[in-house]
Amino acid sequence: MQESKIIHDLKWRYAVKKFDASKKVSKEDLNIFLESLRLTASSFGLQPWKFVVVENPDIRSKLLEHSYNQAQVVDASHLIVLCRNTKIDATLVNDYIDDIIQKTGADTSSLEGYKNMMLGFISNLDENNAKAWAEKQVYIALWNALSSLAQLKIDSCPMEWFSPEKYDEILWLTELWLASVVILPIWYRSGDDTYASNDKFRYDSEKMILKI
Ligand SMILES: Cc1cc2nc3c(=O)[nH]c(=O)nc-3n(C[C@H](O)[C@H](O)[C@H](O)COP(=O)(O)O)c2cc1C
Repeated sequence: MQESKIIHDLKWRYAVKKFDASKKVSKEDLNIFLESLRLTASSFGLQPWKFVVVENPDIRSKLLEHSYNQAQVVDASHLIVLCRNTKIDATLVNDYIDDIIQKTGADTSSLEGYKNMMLGFISNLDENNAKAWAEKQVYIALWNALSSLAQLKIDSCPMEWFSPEKYDEILWLTELWLASVVILPIWYRSGDDTYASNDKFRYDSEKMILKI
């Protein structure tokens, strides 16, 4: 039986450590990728995130030492920093509702119930829960990114091993009420990256999928 395209793409992707420095992701592909990120689903649709595209080489070299010197940060075509909103309060809900009204012309009163439900949810979160909730949403975007990139045949390496505090400072994220969660350098694999030929280690489906 022929392997489905989804499975083929997911087996093709891996966390690339060594990029081909002669290739850059085209503007067209980058835009498709960013649009797929923008379309990520989130709890209530609140989208408590921003995605920062870092191209500037000077800024990226400053980030290198705060990324345990993982060369992907400077070598990649683009460095995407996935950030959570740090202000998880009524403004998050109000902005979202205002955007819906502006785009659809919906009546304010028709959204009142939905708005109150979201305000109730947000008001029950303490600082730690709000952070954890926003981070979870960002990780949905991370997987959407990896899967979209695999379909576009663009490589990447998701990275948590960096100093979020330093990133927030260097990229002025704190002032923007943002905090970095996970970073994603994107580019194309080098022909001699030994990781490319490694087997993908995943537990067998009998172990991971429980059918009741
Ligand atoms: C959230 C997350 C954080 C990761 N952080 C790093 C990292 O800091 N450095 C790195 O080289 N790889 C990192 N990885 C890559 C994983 O090691 C890799 O995805 C995993 O071993 C599975 O292999 P595969 O992606 O090649 O299939 C990270 C992956 C994820 C999903």
